Amino acid sequence: MFFRFVCCLVVVWLISASDESCSEPPPVNNSIFVAKEVEGQILGTYLCIKGYHLVGEKTLSCNASKEWSGPTAKCRLGHCPDPVLVNGEFNSSGPVNATDKITFKCDDDYILKGSSWSQCLEDHTWQPPFPICKSRDCGPPGNPLHGYFEGNDFTRGSTITYYCEEGYRLVGTQDQRCVDGEWSSALPSCEAPKPAPRTALEKALLAFQENKDLCKATEDFMQRLKECNLTMEELKYSLEWKKAELKGKM
Ligand SMILES: *[C@@H]1O[C@H](CO)[C@@H](O)[C@H](O)[C@H]1NC(C)=O
Ligand SMILES: *[C@@H]1O[C@H](CO)[C@@H](O)[C@H](O)[C@H]1NC(C)=O
Ligand SMILES: *[C@@H]1O[C@H](CO)[C@@H](O)[C@H](O)[C@H]1NC(C)=O
Ligand SMILES: *[C@@H]1O[C@H](CO)[C@@H](O)[C@H](O)[C@H]1NC(C)=O
Ligand SMILES: *[C@@H]1O[C@H](CO)[C@@H](O)[C@H](O)[C@H]1NC(C)=O
Repeated sequence: MFFRFVCCLVVVWLISASDESCSEPPPVNNSIFVAKEVEGQILGTYLCIKGYHLVGEKTLSCNASKEWSGPTAKCRLGHCPDPVLVNGEFNSSGPVNATDKITFKCDDDYILKGSSWSQCLEDHTWQPPFPICKSRDCGPPGNPLHGYFEGNDFTRGSTITYYCEEGYRLVGTQDQRCVDGEWSSALPSCEAPKPAPRTALEKALLAFQENKDLCKATEDFMQRLKECNLTMEELKYSLEWKKAELKGKM
């Protein structure tokens, strides 16, 4: 039973014995520390022994005061980190070994998103990545600008209906259903009706028609003309042209 746990740190120097050596690295149980010279800098790497995985910074560098800088890592039991699945379960308990395969299952009312299995690889990672268990109920959806929805049940299978404020046009899907935690289509939008484009002349004439008092109307009309940068000549020409256009229609 004496060799059951290898707890002590093994230090390996791959550097030609020279005065470059750094101080003793911080001890990390169940690891091997390998120091190497890389491009003039001394780097040290912790490697966990079989059945353990590293948590924290893997590589340290030897700084100017010949000390290893950086936080200390840990080697934890299990070739890969313990699997996690919130609102679900998997068929593994205790430390995992390399090449172990696990399968995932979500609790009732939750739907699995991602891979239903994963394998612990030699490099201490899980592939494919862990899935998540997503609620089959939907959250309250958003409101489009100038719009709202009716309905207050956001659980699975329920339906809500979108409406737009008066004068706005709904673009997209009006009825949405909660299917496996997601609304059946993208949020619709509410669009303002496009105002019909008006010519400068029409605007000026409108200002004229809107006034009861002729003097005031003329004054406003001239003002509008000025704002539109229309000269009397241009106005005359425009009116002739309008007249011709009207005659043509009759
Ligand atoms: C390393 O292992 C030894 C022996 O099991 C234990 O006493 C010590 O607390 C461990 N150190 C750390 C940092 O876990
Ligand atoms: C080197 O690292 C040690 C430990 O992290 C630190 O106390 C020391 O100040 C560092 N020296 C320099 C020159 O950065
Ligand atoms: C991992 O291997 C050890 C010894 O080889 C074994 O006792 C343990 O049950 C294995 N773990 C799993 C999850 O299979
Ligand atoms: C989990 O279940 C899968 C499929 O049944 C199986 O291939 C795998 O070996 C199981 N893993 C463990 C750690 O029991
Ligand atoms: C009218 O002309 C002035 C000066 O040339 C200019 O600053 C202004 O933007 C113009 N207005 C319109 C409606 O084109």
